[in-house]
Amino acid sequence: MSDKALVASHAANLVENGMIVGLGTGSTANFFIEALAKRHAEGLNVTTVASSYISAIKAKEAGLPLIAIEQLTELDLYVDGADEVSPDLALLKGRGSDLVREKLLATASKQFIVLVDESKLVNRIGEQYPIPIEVMPFAWQLVKQHLANVGATGTLRPNASKDGLAMTSHGSLVLEMVFDASLPPAELNHLLNNTPGVVEHGLFYKLASTVFIVHDGKIETRHA
Ligand code: A5P
Repeated sequence: MSDKALVASHAANLVENGMIVGLGTGSTANFFIEALAKRHAEGLNVTTVASSYISAIKAKEAGLPLIAIEQLTELDLYVDGADEVSPDLALLKGRGSDLVREKLLATASKQFIVLVDESKLVNRIGEQYPIPIEVMPFAWQLVKQHLANVGATGTLRPNASKDGLAMTSHGSLVLEMVFDASLPPAELNHLLNNTPGVVEHGLFYKLASTVFIVHDGKIETRHA
């Protein structure tokens, strides 16, 4: 069993009968969907809600009962991967195109479990990747300038074939911004939350309850 499959199955074993579970997006979350579907096939009563169209398709194909996010007022558990995890368990997410749903589920969930391998551990968020910031299309220049005023640099995310711009499933553009390394994460979070024109951003600050870090067949647990 691969490290990702191992940590995903560890998380799936924590799901209890009757829970509403949020499904993340990405290669690690896919292993979780498979592991949870296996438990469901063995008799676990579970309802799921997906953080992206691709995860919804995977969950349906795997036979998991799925409800629309519109039907949800709260959920018991959200399980997802991350692109970076800092020592205070802040996360960088949003390499995909459904950041809004991911943050909605992470915020509404009683528990948010994050599954990563050691390569995702960083000293500060933004160390390995720029921060993705979903913006209303007409607002991108003003948002970029607002962030440039505090020293940030960056550009709009290109599409996969690099001949146009990436668009999220909600029709937002994505700015990928690099911030001064000395900016504390609480301040960065506050700035991004309070910039007009920003739909959502990839800094998940004080949202993770537990992070499972897998390395060579062993799982380390960190609680917030
Ligand atoms: C999706 O938008 C991201 O936030 C993913 O959770 C993140 O990219 C992790 O993906 P992997 O599990 O494939 O590394």
